[in-house]
Amino acid sequence: MDNFVYHNPTELIFGRGQLEKLKEKAAQLGSTVLLVYGGGSIKRIGLYDKVVSLLQEAGCTIHELPGVEPNPRLSTVKKGIELCRRERVDWILAVGGGSVIDASKAIAVGVPYEGDVWDFYTRKAQPQTALPLGTVLTLAATGSEMNRGSVITNWETKEKLGAGTTFPTFSILDPENTFSVPRDQTVYGICDMMSHVFEQYFTHTPEIPLQTRFAESILKTVIEYAERVLANPEDYDARATILYCGTMALNGTLPVGVETDWATHSIEHAVSAVYDIPHGGGLAIIFPKWMRYVYRENVERFKRFAVEVWGVDPSGKTDDEVALEGIAATEAFFARIGAPTRLADYQIGDEHLELMAEKATPFGPIGRFKKLNSEDVAAILRMCL
Ligand code: NZQ
Ligand code: ZN
Repeated sequence: MDNFVYHNPTELIFGRGQLEKLKEKAAQLGSTVLLVYGGGSIKRIGLYDKVVSLLQEAGCTIHELPGVEPNPRLSTVKKGIELCRRERVDWILAVGGGSVIDASKAIAVGVPYEGDVWDFYTRKAQPQTALPLGTVLTLAATGSEMNRGSVITNWETKEKLGAGTTFPTFSILDPENTFSVPRDQTVYGICDMMSHVFEQYFTHTPEIPLQTRFAESILKTVIEYAERVLANPEDYDARATILYCGTMALNGTLPVGVETDWATHSIEHAVSAVYDIPHGGGLAIIFPKWMRYVYRENVERFKRFAVEVWGVDPSGKTDDEVALEGIAATEAFFARIGAPTRLADYQIGDEHLELMAEKATPFGPIGRFKKLNSEDVAAILRMCL
């Protein structure tokens, strides 16, 4: 196990009826708030009205930034930064999924920064300070509610890049706010959270039994509850379990003391940057192909994955056979829950394959389980066609 420091300052407020706590939190953070949300789902489920009345009860003046896109755009972030500066906003409240939260994080670090907020994403600068941020999460997927990551798309340059920005001060997670998530978005969220575990599970770091078992329990729980949540979207305990899994998959619990990978996320971000596809859908296509491309780097790890997560019986089989059965089980699971399995499912051919391979490696080779250069990425993308 490697050395580590673990610090996560986000207050997680979880469960039915917990939105009420927003009033108390708002009163602590200041009287002028920017309310950030997406394309209207929060209005359709009645959450917008509840949030606004709680903020008003707390004495807040509300400014709004609606219309944050899935795969949020830099142009929207810049609008938010201007609005905050003009209206002297004290804090930001993000109500929505990962895209709304990520855009809000970018605004939070962009307001006090004199340069271009995109500098944080191109690694020219690192955020030093931020406006306080609270979130009300409506979709189980990214873990953005309890981490400092933010992923923003610069549509002009066709770049989608992640940066370490700021942790939310608090995040309110009521599973009932996820009842209305459509089937396809529920599936994408499940693929995304499983992929977050994969990125941190496939490693060469030896002797990490607790991290390994944490990761396997998240995967087994997601696999067990996925079909239940898809069969009954209003099953409170199933939604709650999937929601908590999404948070735990990317809140800093799994990577402590572990060398993590993250190549597949870079590849997917490049595909999304060029084709604007849903993140979780892209991951469902690419991850099993990445697994096939790299598993020989540490067959033991893939064998363990097959046996512990998918219940593959190893007796009488070679290590390779067991590892490949685990990968096939992953692929079959994604297909069974209705995730896309090939780039062709999004009408993506090989036209921009080299471009995407370049975009996936903007700062040099990616991944640590196996270092991948742009030729490797192109080979993996070709397997996805
Ligand atoms: O825009 P609205 O109308 O709100 O609709 C959204 C959107 O169309 C809808 N939705 C959300 N909650 C809903 C709902 N519809 C009905 N009922 C609800 N309760 O779902 C659609 C997708 O929302 P989005 O926020 O884009 O999804 P997600 O949470 O999967 O976020 C994806 C973004 O997060 C980034 C991805 O790259 C992508 O840009 N990621 C962020 C990470 C992080 N910050 O740590 C890590 C991830 O790996 C990921 O890269
Ligand atoms: Zn992800």
